[in-house]
Amino acid sequence: MFKIVVTTAALLCGGLLAGCQPGGAAGPEWRPGDAPRVMAASDIEAGRYIVATSGCNDCHTPLYARTGGAQPAEAEWLKGSPEPHTGPWGTSYGKNLRLTVAENTEDQWVQLLTTGSSMPPMPWPSVRNMSDYDKRAIYRYIKSLPGDRGQPAPAPLPPGVTPPGPPAR
Ligand code: HEC
Repeated sequence: MFKIVVTTAALLCGGLLAGCQPGGAAGPEWRPGDAPRVMAASDIEAGRYIVATSGCNDCHTPLYARTGGAQPAEAEWLKGSPEPHTGPWGTSYGKNLRLTVAENTEDQWVQLLTTGSSMPPMPWPSVRNMSDYDKRAIYRYIKSLPGDRGQPAPAPLPPGVTPPGPPAR
């Protein structure tokens, strides 16, 4: 009886339920041959590490790049940025990823990071190459962030329109 239960659980987590993959303690579940992933005490910690080291904050957190990451605190991370990115495409703003996470299921988020495209300088080609484990870890981390979700980032502007400067800090 015990054996059957264990086998069923292993089957479910091994193949059928993708949601099992990065759940709980992320490390011990990885097996040689699996896609690469960040190992951490939990998937939320893995997501935090990826966000902190992969540049997401530079463009998606208010004025993060300009202050060298000195501000704001983690409670403000990924709430979108008023920093304009202007080029031949017009002007884009790093969107509020707290809202994106709130509006999408985890599977939709994975799909978005896998197939997404938009204006520069969002590094879609790099993000696309992350393993699904890491995409899910980012989602779970963002979902775990405390505090309000903030407001949408400014709407993009078409080419030729001069954007207003970002607020001084
Ligand atoms: C160099 C700047 C930059 C970096 C670094 C960056 N982004 Fe972006 N990202 C953007 C911009 C700008 C947009 C909005 C583009 C537009 O409006 O067309 C965007 C859009 C997105 C979107 C679409 C949101 C939506 O609601 O449609 C997602 C998801 C996203 N980024 C995730 C990430 C993640 C995760 C990371 C870190 C691994 C990251 N970005 C790093 C600039 C960046």
